[in-house]
Amino acid sequence: MKLRHHLSLLGSLAIVFAAACGAADDTRTTPPTPAPDAATTFDTGAPPAPDAAPDAGLAPPFPMAPEVLSFFESFHTSRYSGAKPSAAALDEAVKQGRTGEEIALVRGLAHLWHVAESRRDPNMDGDAIQAEAMSLPGWFAFAQEKQPNDPRVGCFLGTALVNAGQATQNAALEQQGFAVLDAAVAAYPEFNLFCRALAYDPLPASDPRFDKAVDSLYESLDACFGEKVDRANPDITKYLGQATSEGRKRVCWNGWIAPHNAEGFFLYFGDLLVKQGKIDIAKIVYANAKKIKEYASWPYKSILDERLGSDLTVKAALYRDADPKNDPPVGGASADRNCAYCHAGSASE
Ligand code: HEC
Repeated sequence: MKLRHHLSLLGSLAIVFAAACGAADDTRTTPPTPAPDAATTFDTGAPPAPDAAPDAGLAPPFPMAPEVLSFFESFHTSRYSGAKPSAAALDEAVKQGRTGEEIALVRGLAHLWHVAESRRDPNMDGDAIQAEAMSLPGWFAFAQEKQPNDPRVGCFLGTALVNAGQATQNAALEQQGFAVLDAAVAAYPEFNLFCRALAYDPLPASDPRFDKAVDSLYESLDACFGEKVDRANPDITKYLGQATSEGRKRVCWNGWIAPHNAEGFFLYFGDLLVKQGKIDIAKIVYANAKKIKEYASWPYKSILDERLGSDLTVKAALYRDADPKNDPPVGGASADRNCAYCHAGSASE
């Protein structure tokens, strides 16, 4: 039953992928898309909307449908119980033929949140989550069709394809995912290099391809800061003055959408360095999180403190031994907050 379900899904996906990859290839031949829609519509001067979501104190950066804003209300407060109803409301909007105002993309992302943090649900239905996960590539391919000028979509389509390919041991699918990610990186490196790291990070530390995860994160810093960052001492102090919540470099820092993106990024980056066995450099990268202006209000400081208080040499060894099952999860996944550690401004659940 389960197998049949996967096969039929993959059959229909193959068609979608052909289209998705065509679109992705286009981005190689056309000049890099300047930025997500936001580059032109990003709200800079307007006063915050009276009912803007908590914390960031800024208006939502582009026009959003009520269902999208409602999703962000749950997402920004880490209210996981809101993930499923938000996704259902967004599905309904799509059914009604409404796909603008971020609906097409955020519909897939609401489902992704529900899937990614499903361990938070004591009554989690494993089969339903698996089916939802297998639908993600189709939803993100649809989003790419509807939001062709938003190069962030390739992040979510690419990682979903890689995950689906790995889950079904379909190497061609996995390859398609990496191709989508490569095209997305070419179009918007500041954002999509992080996504490429996500696609490689589950590999064993001993696999040479795991290094691509770490390399992608260094390259993401290079793209963000405009110069090659020192690999022996990636301290960000001298770049802090570049912080912005506008334009394409906003994704290197914190903003309305991801109020603690930067702290989360450095937590995750430090974890991958520990996995790579580079403990001294990991400590420099963990310390970067504390240099971010909004660090004091980060609801997940405790995850970072846990790292700083633990024996990282022992931890690094767990990634290197023969048992992949004892590998500690990286980033917010260690606390089942795979998305919330960047996206929540407060933690109501
Ligand atoms: C390392 C931090 C980080 C993690 C982890 C992360 N994101 Fe994001 N996310 C970002 C950044 C940065 C952006 C882009 C913000 C922007 O465009 O201004 C973003 C964008 C988004 C958006 C907005 C899309 C839109 O239409 O504007 C959603 C929704 C989202 N992510 C959901 C998720 C989900 C679901 C997860 C977990 C599976 C996740 N994110 C994990 C940093 C992160």
